[in-house]
Amino acid sequence: MTTVDLPLLPLGRGKDLDAERGVECPGDLPPASDPDLVARARAAKEALGAKVFILGHHYQRDEVIQFADVSGDSFKLARDAAARPEAEFIVFCGVHFMAESADILTSPSQKVILPDLAAGCSMADMARLAQVEDAWAGLEDAGVADSVVPVTYMNSSADIKAFTGLHGGAVCTSSNAEVALEWAFSQKPDAKILFLPDEHLGRNTAVLKMGFTLDDCIVWNPRLPLGGNTIEAIQAARMILWKGHCSVHGRFSPDVIDELRSKHADLQVIVHPECQHEVVLKADLVGSTEFIIQTIEAAPPGSTWAIGTELNLVKRLATNHPDKNIVFLDRNVCYCSTMNRIDLPHLVWALESLAAGNVVNVIEVDPDTEHWAKIALDRMLALPGKSHKD
Ligand code: 13P
Ligand code: SF4
Repeated sequence: MTTVDLPLLPLGRGKDLDAERGVECPGDLPPASDPDLVARARAAKEALGAKVFILGHHYQRDEVIQFADVSGDSFKLARDAAARPEAEFIVFCGVHFMAESADILTSPSQKVILPDLAAGCSMADMARLAQVEDAWAGLEDAGVADSVVPVTYMNSSADIKAFTGLHGGAVCTSSNAEVALEWAFSQKPDAKILFLPDEHLGRNTAVLKMGFTLDDCIVWNPRLPLGGNTIEAIQAARMILWKGHCSVHGRFSPDVIDELRSKHADLQVIVHPECQHEVVLKADLVGSTEFIIQTIEAAPPGSTWAIGTELNLVKRLATNHPDKNIVFLDRNVCYCSTMNRIDLPHLVWALESLAAGNVVNVIEVDPDTEHWAKIALDRMLALPGKSHKD
């Protein structure tokens, strides 16, 4: 293997078991120092047998992902949750909005468990139902609501998905945003899209994949009257982008790409579409976590990659592909702190509780929200094609 002299953190050269261990385990959680955690998780999972199905998002820690029956991106996990009617318990190792979607897509007799209820998503928190309802009223005031189709990213709460379903829209994920937007634009003549809650995924998809210009997009800031726009700007816009973002992917910057390229002519840059537009413009490839994994798997030995997504996944790719040179596209450590809330003590606690007949941390969406959110999710699941194989 050729070694390269990259200035960034070299990955996969060792284990970092102490990373992000700062969260105390209160109550009956086993301590992180318990040397038997792996054996305990294995035993509890075996005891539960076919009653339990464990889903793990790609950003989960290695110590957790080793117990996942299926790992995947948001789209794959939503589909896999829906395809396990025999499992009484779906243990979701991911974040709250993913567990909510799993609850909506599974049967009422199945229970979805989130091992730590504090595993949220800062982006999903940036769009609250009351704010979105106010925005809709603003669109009515501007005289355009009848032509607006809402599309919400999977990374949103169940009530935002329900709002979307109720108003004729659909959910999308990073792996099907383009086809979801095509669908949405076909729903009404001169349709405008209200894209929630990630302005970057909305802009990157509309401009880089669908041929819209930056001038076709406006940003809706929920803290300002009319989102901070004039009525004329709202009437002229095709994409109304909610002002929300991912605090993890927002860290990547174009100057790091320039710096790396100046040193390594053969460097390829692959990023998640939650990155800022300026970063995606400078990248070679953009796609979901599943797409990033498939691309690195297919890359030739000796190729050099800078990856702009969450660090647990980038480290795992570097470990699994020692014949490729993989670096992280940020100068500093950049985990998703809420994804990292799910650690081995929480997983052991959840599995052992279930095995003992104590059903903990159930995620349950209320029936009315579930009804409309499922309509929006089903519209996504019915979309033609997929941008990645799995
Ligand atoms: P994926 O759908 O690509 O897995 O992304 C989910 C996510 O939360 C990215 O921040
Ligand atoms: Fe949310 Fe960003 Fe974490 Fe994904 S990486 S779960 S969008 S905070």
